[in-house]
Amino acid sequence: MSTATRVTSLSPSLIRAMSVGAPPEAIDLGLGVPGWALPEPARAALARCADRDEPLGYGPNGGVPELVAAVGDYHLLANADRADQVMVTAGSQAALTALFLAHVSPGQIVLVPDPGFPAYATLARLAGALPVPYRLGAQGALDPAVFTAALDTGDVALAVINHPGNPTGGGASLDALAAVASASRAAGAVLVSDEVYREVHLGPRPASLRDVTDSGVVVSSVSKGWAAPGLRVGWAVGDPALLQPARLVHNAMTTSAAQTSQLAATALLRASDQVLRQTRRELITRWSVAQTGPAAVRPVGTPAGGFYAWIPVPQWAAHDTTGFCLRVRDEGSVVVVPGTAFGAAGEGFVRVSCGGDPKLLAQGLARMAPFWEAP
Ligand SMILES: Cc1ncc(COP(=O)(O)O)c(C=O)c1O
Repeated sequence: MSTATRVTSLSPSLIRAMSVGAPPEAIDLGLGVPGWALPEPARAALARCADRDEPLGYGPNGGVPELVAAVGDYHLLANADRADQVMVTAGSQAALTALFLAHVSPGQIVLVPDPGFPAYATLARLAGALPVPYRLGAQGALDPAVFTAALDTGDVALAVINHPGNPTGGGASLDALAAVASASRAAGAVLVSDEVYREVHLGPRPASLRDVTDSGVVVSSVSKGWAAPGLRVGWAVGDPALLQPARLVHNAMTTSAAQTSQLAATALLRASDQVLRQTRRELITRWSVAQTGPAAVRPVGTPAGGFYAWIPVPQWAAHDTTGFCLRVRDEGSVVVVPGTAFGAAGEGFVRVSCGGDPKLLAQGLARMAPFWEAP
């Protein structure tokens, strides 16, 4: 595939596209962003930066040392390993992009979860590769048998797991993580574990790939758990041999993540106890709204993490999920994302983001419910 074809094969994310053309009074339950204020430690750090009467340089390509150390502490890395095992990036999105472009060659295969975050397939195509979906198990949990079978599909360069998962909120057990890590190693595929929702949980703290192995790469960011998507700070942690080429790509893409943002992200990570406690409080508030809302659109069960409700559409609309979501948007004035935005296995579901303002969430659910009741 030529580079030009690779780019024309990309299309705007359906997650964003759903809000384009929405009625002006529409309530947006589409975008997955935390709807509470930027936590105070980040605001204080940004104010300190603004007060400094000194040049604002680019900073080191690999991230400011304070943040590299804070990420290292968060992932329990030994001091000596940090410079090699941490790559600071412009959000986890840039970490994923750099890893894909560094490790995937045209014509190869990338395994992506289905349903899963659409950027994985987009990045695979951008690298000239073929995204091959693998199905998730019950409640969106990682199913190592299905994943391992998918590794036999052909020349798999890279495989992504996402837990807790977007859009389903499904998790991964320690056993499942160990099994997919060992199968990926045996197949020679780079395993990338996207853990951006790890700190957004109502129940027990979800496991990390790093709890079972040092191989592969974990990506994360301050965007969800630390409620700071606009800082655009993320990171990759893992095998230095995998990070080294990805650093070169990230440097070529962005030089480095914004320096002021990195200092704010450092303040957030250093205040994790306080910031993550607030995240859980905010999540509980929103989840109780969803669980006491109209029965027709009530989430079934509690996700392993994330702030999404993954709700079946009514039977009569199951063959046309996108059309149904457009009706809910245009006639009911609520933006939700059709499950098909996340892969073929999303047909018959909608993703409702519960991350925003709780009052708007309650109103949005009330507006949605009648569409579940009558054709
Ligand atoms: C599963 C998943 N991974 C990665 C990202 C990218 O987030 P960021 O670049 O803000 O870290 C998102 C954003 O919604 C996501 O849902």
